[in-house]
Amino acid sequence: MGFSFVRLACAASLLPAALAQIIARSEPEPVASAVAVDTLDFSDAAEVQTTTLKGINFGCKCYPGKRCWPSTNKWKTLNATVDGRLLVDIPPGAPCHNTFTGPLGTVNTYDAAKCAEATQNWESETWIVSQPAAELWTYFTNDTCRPTQNPTGSCTLGYYGVYVIMATKAQHVKAGIDFARRNNLRLIVRNTGHDFIGRSTGYGALIINTHSFQQIDWINSYRGPGSYRGGAVTLGAGVQGETILAQGHARNPPLVVVTGECPTLGIAGGFIQGGGHGPWTTLKGFSADNVLAFEAITASGLYVTANEWQNPDVATNNDGIIEAFKTVLSPRPDVFAFMIGHLFNPGYGAPKSNSATHPAWRNATNFVIAAMLVPVGSSLAQKADLQNLLTNTVDEALRDASTSGCTYVNEADPYQPNWQSHFWGSEYPKLRALRWKWDPLGVFYAISTPGTEGWEVIDDGTRLCRKL
Ligand SMILES: *[C@@H]1O[C@H](CO)[C@@H](O)[C@H](O)[C@H]1NC(C)=O
Ligand SMILES: *[C@@H]1O[C@H](CO)[C@@H](O)[C@H](O)[C@H]1NC(C)=O
Ligand SMILES: *[C@@H]1O[C@H](CO)[C@@H](O)[C@H](O)[C@H]1NC(C)=O
Repeated sequence: MGFSFVRLACAASLLPAALAQIIARSEPEPVASAVAVDTLDFSDAAEVQTTTLKGINFGCKCYPGKRCWPSTNKWKTLNATVDGRLLVDIPPGAPCHNTFTGPLGTVNTYDAAKCAEATQNWESETWIVSQPAAELWTYFTNDTCRPTQNPTGSCTLGYYGVYVIMATKAQHVKAGIDFARRNNLRLIVRNTGHDFIGRSTGYGALIINTHSFQQIDWINSYRGPGSYRGGAVTLGAGVQGETILAQGHARNPPLVVVTGECPTLGIAGGFIQGGGHGPWTTLKGFSADNVLAFEAITASGLYVTANEWQNPDVATNNDGIIEAFKTVLSPRPDVFAFMIGHLFNPGYGAPKSNSATHPAWRNATNFVIAAMLVPVGSSLAQKADLQNLLTNTVDEALRDASTSGCTYVNEADPYQPNWQSHFWGSEYPKLRALRWKWDPLGVFYAISTPGTEGWEVIDDGTRLCRKL
């Protein structure tokens, strides 16, 4: 029997560097004329779907089967806008089943060769990452279509999205964001590597897959805004830790980048937006401390570059979809090693960014992850029971043992009470205000991100709604 992990607990968060200047554009190229960010325009957004559950009024995203769901023609137009790179999301285990039944109907899926491939690679990180929407952490997909020897077994969508844009250009990403906003769809960004808290999957969503953004541009001497003048690198969203470390090591002199520990982890996505700790953290601070600039697309569909000059907004917003970012490198002629473990005192003596990092996290001496195994096929009630035990017994003990109650958002239990203070401490009110300014409609909703109190996934983990 296979197992999945239930959401994690931790004892010891943060958001990335508060970068200082934001240049917003309506076109991806930096040469396009800048537009004022005060003109964030959400007037084309669709209405929410109202519903009442246990006496509470909710405004929900639009889901298949509802009248608000975009027509086939609208999806066709989106497909044309993204150069034909829109796919219907079919779970990776589907070739082992005669049929897959999803919100768009039932299709025949059995394919012996593809089934053998899926069965053999089900635990292969590289294979999973190469799939349009598959998750390394299958718990959050609800695991309703696993490889099997029995093709008559059921295969359903579980908590996967409905469509995936296999984006290769910034324009594709913007098209996906605009489509989600204009049609009130749940939007999921699926980049690469794992997400311990399931933010890269969501029931009934439109998914933007950013794994194709693999560009790496080394800069010998950074000349951008701010005072830093050293080596730097620009990374596409999909670049994984193992790739950048190997390329850096092959340079003369060898260079190191402040990545995470896990080799398949993407650096420029949620990892760095949550602060990002890894083997170099003790010496060089968090990955977010090493950021020079982000390129992102806002919930209103503007392209922005945020760097170290004036306005400290977007990078602390946790919302932009990151196209690329620049991170400082430290030349280490003789060092290329992975240090594994969670012993801390992050960046002791290293420059700190003006970031959303929980102030107490920087003083942490240790960081503990606790997880529980959940047998595949557990009922919703069994899962809820284990989650309750984790949150209210295991986590509670860790919270009590921690002097600060501070924890790391990317490796924590998002269901813990008062997650706002555990993840962001005194930074929280500022972060919530930024969220409400840049993404007032929750286009980029992800669990336990600033400003999402009042949001709930109702109907057994399916419909995403906000209390009205
Ligand atoms: C999008 O267009 C491509 C190219 O024409 C096509 O192969 C693909 O099936 C289309 N996607 C959807 C969801 O219809
Ligand atoms: C999720 O899995 C549970 C079993 O754990 C099942 O009862 C439920 O119907 C599934 N929901 C979806 C949307 O797949
Ligand atoms: C972290 O440690 C420094 C140095 O001891 C101290 O000045 C600061 O108050 C501590 N911060 C927090 C939030 O505990």
